[in-house]
Amino acid sequence: MPDRVRITDVSPRDGLQNEPGTIPTAHKARLVRALDASGVDEIEVTSFVSAKWLPQLGDAAELLGMLAATKPPGIVYSALVPNEQGMRAAIEVNERAARRVVDKVAVFTAASETFSKRNTNATIAETLRRFDPVIALARGKGLLVRGYISCAVECPFEGRIAPERVAHVAQALFDMGVDELDLGDTIGAAEPETINLLLHAIASRLGDRLWPMTTLHLHDTFGRAAECVREALQLGVRSFDGAVSGLGGCPYASTPGRRAPGNIDTERLVRVVLESGYSTGVNLDGLARAASVARSLPGMGGGAG
Ligand code: HMG
Ligand code: MG
Repeated sequence: MPDRVRITDVSPRDGLQNEPGTIPTAHKARLVRALDASGVDEIEVTSFVSAKWLPQLGDAAELLGMLAATKPPGIVYSALVPNEQGMRAAIEVNERAARRVVDKVAVFTAASETFSKRNTNATIAETLRRFDPVIALARGKGLLVRGYISCAVECPFEGRIAPERVAHVAQALFDMGVDELDLGDTIGAAEPETINLLLHAIASRLGDRLWPMTTLHLHDTFGRAAECVREALQLGVRSFDGAVSGLGGCPYASTPGRRAPGNIDTERLVRVVLESGYSTGVNLDGLARAASVARSLPGMGGGAG
């Protein structure tokens, strides 16, 4: 029996947050439901962030409320929360629906101070302090916590990031009790060698505890994400993020004249995993249908840059 690899599709969150247009909530729900039917393990549905910072996802509570009636058993829905206010909003969705619609929350920090400031108006240390009440509330409600580290390879403002800096933040998140570390190659700068160095730097602090709790979140700017997936699989990573149709990108990673790049296409990701001899729960026809729903959403600005 080949090792099973977890697949998370982040297109409703990372994909749609970077679209210049506003996509009607009912159409976002259509995308999530198409993903429900594709067999992915997890869908990152939305973010409970400030609508001033990210108007595209200002309908998080409404969207999840809409999905409460149709969420199938077994699938994990996750949502980003930057602080206690976001966490309380996520809990309210579950309480209103009288069921667990949000199973997991994702806190997010960075290995670059400049990026952290631009993305969350806080230093790395300040973001970590904001996570304390989030993690305590999540524990109290039995919700899982994913901890993202953006700019795990390179920052659009600071350039290369030393693996040791990422390892330092990973250790802090681990010590705070996150269930999962998600390493974000925010601008798609990774190569197999940098992934190798990065994972070894973190493993030298966390040891073998790293592999079962690590997810790789690759953007595919230079078409190298697939090679990085292969490298990570060889090292022991068994969980990856992708976005159908290669949507995605953090608006706060965009630089003048250059829009932040899309995530690795989930279909490509699954094919690479299968070709490497691992299994997933995904059915590729279902995923292709979800990708076509993503492409047909009204208000899309023409794909990731
Ligand atoms: P701030 O302005 O410093 O917050 O933003 P504040 O605490 O001073 O509050 C200012 C206003 O925001 C107040 O409203 C708060 O109520 C409101 P006002 O009184 O002015 O009307 N507010 C909120 N509203 C809704 N939900 C909340 C919330 N918190 C405060 N949770 C903050 C700080 C973190 C909120 C802001 O910077 C923010 O929302 N940032 C989010 C940026 C973002 O979502 N970026 C994209 C996700 S990260 C990413 O894409 C990378 C990733 O994909 C991995 C990778 O690729 O590397 C994950
Ligand atoms: Mg991202």
